[in-house]
Parts: sequence; C-alpha cells; structure tokens
Amino acid sequence: MVYKESEFFIETEVPENELIISRTNLQGLITYANETFCEISGYSEDELIGKSHNIVRHPDMPKVAFSDLWETLKNEKQWKGFVKNLRKDKGFYWVYAIISGVYKDGELVEYKSLRTPISYEDKLESQKLYDQMREKSNENIRKVIYE
Ligand SMILES: Cc1cc2nc3c(=O)[nH]c(=O)nc-3n(C[C@H](O)[C@H](O)[C@H](O)COP(=O)(O)O)c2cc1C
Repeated sequence: MVYKESEFFIETEVPENELIISRTNLQGLITYANETFCEISGYSEDELIGKSHNIVRHPDMPKVAFSDLWETLKNEKQWKGFVKNLRKDKGFYWVYAIISGVYKDGELVEYKSLRTPISYEDKLESQKLYDQMREKSNENIRKVIYE
C-alpha cells in the first residue's frame, strides 16, 4: 500500500481527562458514539452511526489483533489492548481500549468500548510490535513517497 498524504503522520492526542466511548450491535455496526469519539476521530455523529466500526481502522493495525478481538467477544470475554486508529483526515490517534459485551436481562445485546490515552513509550512499543506482526503475516507494509 502506498500513501502520499503527508497528513497521514499527524497525531491527535487523546486528552487525559476524557473517555472515548462507542457501542456497536453484535455485527460491529456503530450504535452510539460520544462527543469525544466524534472529536478525536474527526467524524460527526451522523457519519458514524450505522457504519462498521472499521471506519476508524488504521492500516498499521495487524489483522490478527481484530480476529483476536472478535474471538474474545464471541467467548463473552473482555478484550483489552493498544489500538492505533485512523481519523477521517487520515491522521491517527492511539488508545488503550477495553471492549466487552452489553447485557440486558442477562442477554448479550451489544458491545461497548471505553478508551483512554496511552504513554509515548506504549505508542512506540505498540507501533514496533504491530509493524513486526504485519511483516510476519505479509500484510500492509508501508511505503511512503515524498514528493
Ligand atoms: C465495540 C467495538 C469497538 C471497536 N472499536 C474499534 C476501533 O476503535 N478501531 C478499530 O480499528 N476496530 C474497532 N473494532 C473492531 C472492528 O469492528 C473491526 O473488526 C476492525 O476494525 C477490523 O476491520 P475488519 O473486521 O473489517 O477487518 C471494534 C469492535 C467493537 C465490537
């Protein structure tokens, strides 16, 4: 994959005192997005509701991270991890996400995700780890062209 946009490298920092919250239906379509999620992702609420949550999937994320996430959710367990997300303007933001089921009368009805900021060291480590994971499985090696 080749990216030409220089804005691809612009990071949006998640503020310390805010939570990015979203919910999806069982198929992963967004049913709720809080104001912070809209602000940080650069999308309006209207642009997010009803869309697949992969709308913010960053190409630096290895596929296996999400197969692991869905496997964990199918087993009705909580998934936690560092996630690099893509903004509408192609910038990025890093979060620590905790994703789990929403239950109504004991029945699984939706999924929810709560996200908080992460440290610079965790960003560097996660980037390195995810680069290695993608390389191992031959996906998405970034090639940047300067013009
Ligand atoms: C509640 C919930 C929140 C999610 N949040 C994100 C997210 O912030 N970023 C992301 O890339 N994928 C997120 N996902 C996973 C996506 O649904 C999707 O599996 C992932 O983006 C990979 O896309 P793909 O399944 O089309 O390959 C979330 C899933 C759920 C159920």
